[in-house]
Amino acid sequence: MNTFTYSYPTKVYFGERSAAKNLPAELAKVGKNVMLAYGGGSIKKNGVYDELICILKNAGKNVIEFSGIMSNPTYAKVQEGAKIAKENAVDLILAVGGGSVIDCCKVISAQAKISEELWEFETQKHLSPSEFIPMGAVVTAFGTGAEMNNGAVITHEEKKIKGALWGAFYSFAVLDPAYTMSMPMKQVISGAFDSLSHCMETYMGTPRETNLSDEINEACQRNIIRNLRATIKNNDDISARSELVWAAAMAENGMLKIGKVTDFQAHMLEHQLGAYTDCNHGQGLAVIHPVLYCHMLPKAQAQFARLAVNVWGISPVGKSEEQLAEEFINALSDFIKEIGLPTKFVDMGIAADTDFKAIAESTVLTGGCCKKFTKEELFDILSECYD
Ligand code: NZQ
Ligand code: ZN
Repeated sequence: MNTFTYSYPTKVYFGERSAAKNLPAELAKVGKNVMLAYGGGSIKKNGVYDELICILKNAGKNVIEFSGIMSNPTYAKVQEGAKIAKENAVDLILAVGGGSVIDCCKVISAQAKISEELWEFETQKHLSPSEFIPMGAVVTAFGTGAEMNNGAVITHEEKKIKGALWGAFYSFAVLDPAYTMSMPMKQVISGAFDSLSHCMETYMGTPRETNLSDEINEACQRNIIRNLRATIKNNDDISARSELVWAAAMAENGMLKIGKVTDFQAHMLEHQLGAYTDCNHGQGLAVIHPVLYCHMLPKAQAQFARLAVNVWGISPVGKSEEQLAEEFINALSDFIKEIGLPTKFVDMGIAADTDFKAIAESTVLTGGCCKKFTKEELFDILSECYD
């Protein structure tokens, strides 16, 4: 096992009515000015906005609203939010939404504290921000687990890069499964697949021999598969939903990564696809994973074979490692079809003239992946994903 330090700064309030029960005490710890940040308005339709405004007013807060955070949040939106946060001397950012709102606010919290551009500060000067506006997250869409890490995926439109910037950890996160019940089924499925992808991306890193983190990871994957199937059968199943909400957080709260260097090559490719097409994250991953895994197969046999048996319940009797590894990829592909995710870019509405060469060229090659890809092979993979 690799050497590690484990400590977690985000306090999680999980369960129904968690906001009403716990926000007043959290709000009492911070100053008067609270920035309520959200997306395109789903929280106004499902009652979450009204409930939070009531809690904030009862706590005597001065609420500064920052809305319109889009899916795949842009660096320009970060700058807009940081300006508002600075001008209003914001004491707490309350991010209410899914991964996009939660990520955007992580970077706002850092950008509002420095005068230079955070993108250059982090990616050119390789410096890390050290001052942040404190933040709390209220999760309304599960999947990314963004509420439990300090990485933010931000699209720089001019540079055509969808990349990670590092912000602060949330001081607290409210995970009320009931808040997620109004998510469209399409988002439920792509969110849960994103969580499954995070588990696989972590599992496929190093070390590659059996270890505790991977055995916990296998349980998470089985849980996501089982509870996504239950949710598709009955969208009102709050018990299955609760499991999915926590599994999403588990996949990204560092626990499965203990002692590991992660893979995340599928994510790097999908993020650049997103930079060029603004596509849905979970859908992009669903198309990329099986194709990428076919290319990884010769180097990944032992890990894929373990996933076949321990996650997908495939019998190992009389089978070679190679056969089992192939059966894992087939099981994953069948599951993607079964849950109605796209299997080709063309099904996602991605245009044929998309610059896949530029996407491949600008994709980060990860150190934890078992195969050292070339940009040419990434281009081949993207072409195979198209149709
Ligand atoms: O904007 P509103 O109107 O709120 O609608 C949103 C949005 O259209 C809607 N929604 C959210 N909660 C809802 C709801 N609709 C009805 N009822 C509710 N309760 O859902 C739509 C998608 O939301 P979004 O936040 O964009 O989705 P997701 O949570 O999948 O986040 C995607 C972003 O997170 C990044 C992705 O790249 C993408 O930019 N990721 C962040 C990660 C991280 N920080 O750890 C890891 C991931 O790998 C991922 O890259
Ligand atoms: Zn993801």
